Amino acid sequence: MSYTASSNRYEQMEYRRCGNSGLMLPAVSLGLWHNFGDIDSMNKARDILRTAFDHGITHFDLANNYGPPPGSAEKNFGQLFKADFLPYRDELIISTKAGWKMWEGPYGDWGSRKYLVASLDQSLKRMGLDYVDIYYHHRPDPHTPLEETMSTLDLIVRQGKALYVGISSYQPAEAAKAIAILRELGTPCLIHQPKYSMFERWVENGLLDVLEREGVGCIPFSPLAQGMLTNKYLKGVPTDSRAASHRGNGAMEEDQVTPEKLDKVKRLNVLAEQRGQSLAQMALAWVLKDPRITSVLIGASKPEQVTDSLQCIKNYQFSSEELALIEGILR
Ligand SMILES: NC(=O)c1ccc[n+]([C@@H]2O[C@H](COP(=O)([O-])OP(=O)(O)OC[C@H]3O[C@@H](n4cnc5c(N)ncnc54)[C@H](OP(=O)(O)O)[C@@H]3O)[C@@H](O)[C@H]2O)c1
Repeated sequence: MSYTASSNRYEQMEYRRCGNSGLMLPAVSLGLWHNFGDIDSMNKARDILRTAFDHGITHFDLANNYGPPPGSAEKNFGQLFKADFLPYRDELIISTKAGWKMWEGPYGDWGSRKYLVASLDQSLKRMGLDYVDIYYHHRPDPHTPLEETMSTLDLIVRQGKALYVGISSYQPAEAAKAIAILRELGTPCLIHQPKYSMFERWVENGLLDVLEREGVGCIPFSPLAQGMLTNKYLKGVPTDSRAASHRGNGAMEEDQVTPEKLDKVKRLNVLAEQRGQSLAQMALAWVLKDPRITSVLIGASKPEQVTDSLQCIKNYQFSSEELALIEGILR
């Protein structure tokens, strides 16, 4: 059935300015790392994308290697995009990345000009797009000069293949250097994509300060710790969960659902109930409480998870007592 987006979609979402740029992003964005590969149901994938856009989620995040197999998330997204979202292209922010191993040989990994240019050409073909809105270097490369990687991002924008560029998983000092090089080249760094959640706090040790000082946005990935920070593992590991699915490609495994983690999750869940939120909503709200965060980048295996999670924007205020209680649980 052909798709018409919900007419009140923009009333349901909050939009935040991305750093000092002109771009606004939804406070909740959707990532296609898992659940959009060839091993997944296309019908479900279609429902997730439609539900997200119907609720004002205008940003879909991909990477060359998402699947599995690598490349299949972009290919499947391309098909769904063509069927449903072509009329809405100018209402969407679509990102992709390169930086992890994508193909054999010395040119299919890390951060060379050769890899980044070839990979984006492949991504555009798979998705059937003329350009992406944001192109990221996916992880720092200790061997390629930062000048080469950053000047390639600048080149790609000048070629019209991306509108903005970003970096992912760069530590504070290397992020500051990359941001300075890009500024010098005339293509400002739009955004940084780090892992950040109640269970993963490294960005608080300098990165968020660098981004604030430099006027760069921040879009944390895995804000639900791949599903740990929800109520789904409280009564064991469900067979349809990510932890039980052996998806590979960095997806969490069952042995990561430890008794210590579950104990914290249980206590956090009680606090979330007291706030009138699901644990997923509270975990996302906790990330969004910091104004330096532009958007939380969630994943979803069902449309209902999208509609549950995005309610986090209804309350991301925390009292000092609540924050202290959370710190006590996480310690
Ligand atoms: N830059 C990078 O290096 C990098 C790395 C990783 C991810 N990312 C990006 O970040 C995005 C999100 O990562 P993620 O998928 O790990 O994020 P996440 O939001 O931490 O985890 C998503 C998973 O949590 C579960 N879930 C989500 N909402 C739920 C809810 N309301 N109630 C119960 N369970 C819920 C689902 O697991 P089940 O499948 O078990 O139902 C879902 O697949 C990726 O798609 C990708 O775009 C970037």
